[in-house]
Amino acid sequence: MHYPLIFFAFIVFALCIPIMVPTLQFLLFLSGTLLFMQTLAEAATCSDCFIHSRAAYYPNSYENGTDTGRCGYGSFGATLNGGDVSAVSDLYRDGVGCGACYQVRCTDSHYCTDKGVTIVVTDHGSSHNTDFILSRRAFGRMAQTTDAAASLIALGVVDVEYKRVSCSYPNKNITIKIDENSDHPSYMGFVVWYQQGRRDITAVHLCETQNFACKVLDRSYGAVWTTTSPPSGPLSLRMLFSEEDGDETWVVPVNNIPNDWKAGQTYDTGVQVNS
Ligand SMILES: *[C@@H]1O[C@H](CO)[C@@H](O)[C@H](O)[C@H]1NC(C)=O
Ligand SMILES: *[C@@H]1O[C@H](CO)[C@@H](O)[C@H](O)[C@H]1NC(C)=O
Repeated sequence: MHYPLIFFAFIVFALCIPIMVPTLQFLLFLSGTLLFMQTLAEAATCSDCFIHSRAAYYPNSYENGTDTGRCGYGSFGATLNGGDVSAVSDLYRDGVGCGACYQVRCTDSHYCTDKGVTIVVTDHGSSHNTDFILSRRAFGRMAQTTDAAASLIALGVVDVEYKRVSCSYPNKNITIKIDENSDHPSYMGFVVWYQQGRRDITAVHLCETQNFACKVLDRSYGAVWTTTSPPSGPLSLRMLFSEEDGDETWVVPVNNIPNDWKAGQTYDTGVQVNS
């Protein structure tokens, strides 16, 4: 007879139920958690991740950035954003990166804050494998205290993490500054100031408001857009805003650039963007 064997098998089975049930629940929970985490990872584009790098500061005695930055902002580029500005190396992207904002924080918890500093790109350059050469002011602002700032400055080059963030210029519209080298009416160049958000301007057209004949401008260098023989009459601007994922939107300012535009003048476009 096999009764004892069946009985034995039943006992083993019965004993296993309390072990199997929680194990099964745990496995279900675990696979659910993994699925959830995977979904989260897919949702978070890495444009939201901090990237490891290094930062130095301008080797001059000034607090602010430089008047001769490769973005072409001139003296405006030294003091923009309260002087929290930076030169970048690869992030310059042939000038497309000019005006982009980055949160940069140093990683030594002894000296550095979690928040770090938000800088605007105004120049191109690198030293000692850095992605950033900050203004001295911005470099010090990554520190917890004045003493810690002095220690950071003494180090010269520090490990940092950075990510692209939205630029913010409260109470400012996007503004056009006509380049000093412009020569009405045969040659026009300008830079774009106070662009909020985190998109790149990848094309600029200048159109006659009368018949909408448009001229495609060239990025001569940095943030400087130029054209020989610009259209005449009041001029309507079109700027193409590009996102990291490739989405593109044309922005058409409310205000025109007047017919008698002048070198060195600034013109309020009457629009601002937030993304
Ligand atoms: C640096 O920029 C700030 C903010 O615009 C300005 O007040 C200050 O005078 C500048 N400092 C120097 C040394 O240019
Ligand atoms: C921005 O432009 C609007 C018109 O579109 C104007 O009403 C407003 O005053 C401008 N803001 C500033 C700060 O110049």
